[in-house]
Amino acid sequence: MKACLRSLTVVAAAAALVAGAATMAAWAQGEWKAPADQKGVKNPLTGNKGAVAEGKKLADVNCVTCHGPEGKGNGPAAAALPPPKPADWTSAKVAAETDGEIFWKISNGRGSMPPWKHLPDNQRWQLVTYIRSLQKK
Ligand code: HEC
Repeated sequence: MKACLRSLTVVAAAAALVAGAATMAAWAQGEWKAPADQKGVKNPLTGNKGAVAEGKKLADVNCVTCHGPEGKGNGPAAAALPPPKPADWTSAKVAAETDGEIFWKISNGRGSMPPWKHLPDNQRWQLVTYIRSLQKK
């Protein structure tokens, strides 16, 4: 009887895990929107000459594995990741977002996109500024 109860517990735990994973996957599937109050947050580095170069250095270290050397979402790790795939920074979708929204997404992450809150604000704004510079090409 005891063993039977134990296996029931194992089954219940496994079921909870599967349900949890399914919820996580569903949560990461829909459109990813930054909270409305982030939209108007201004980039303090707009017009800062060094920011693009600094942002590129940070991206080359932290982001290329997934987002690729030109930010097109085709880094070497991208193929192995489940959808949603790493964003193409040069896409119309990302270009349509405000600096504040991109900053928030870099800070918080979602699914396979890691949160980058451990990078100082200044570095995250450099990344935003670099991403913007790719879109203007
Ligand atoms: C392990 C892979 C991985 C790494 C490393 C990574 N990303 Fe991402 N990134 C993703 C994935 C996957 C998404 C799509 C997430 C989604 O839509 O749920 C994403 C989405 C984004 C988006 C959102 C685009 C949008 O507007 O919807 C931005 C911006 C971004 N990444 C920036 C960065 C920056 C900057 C770095 C480096 C500091 C970085 N990412 C590193 C995987 C990664």
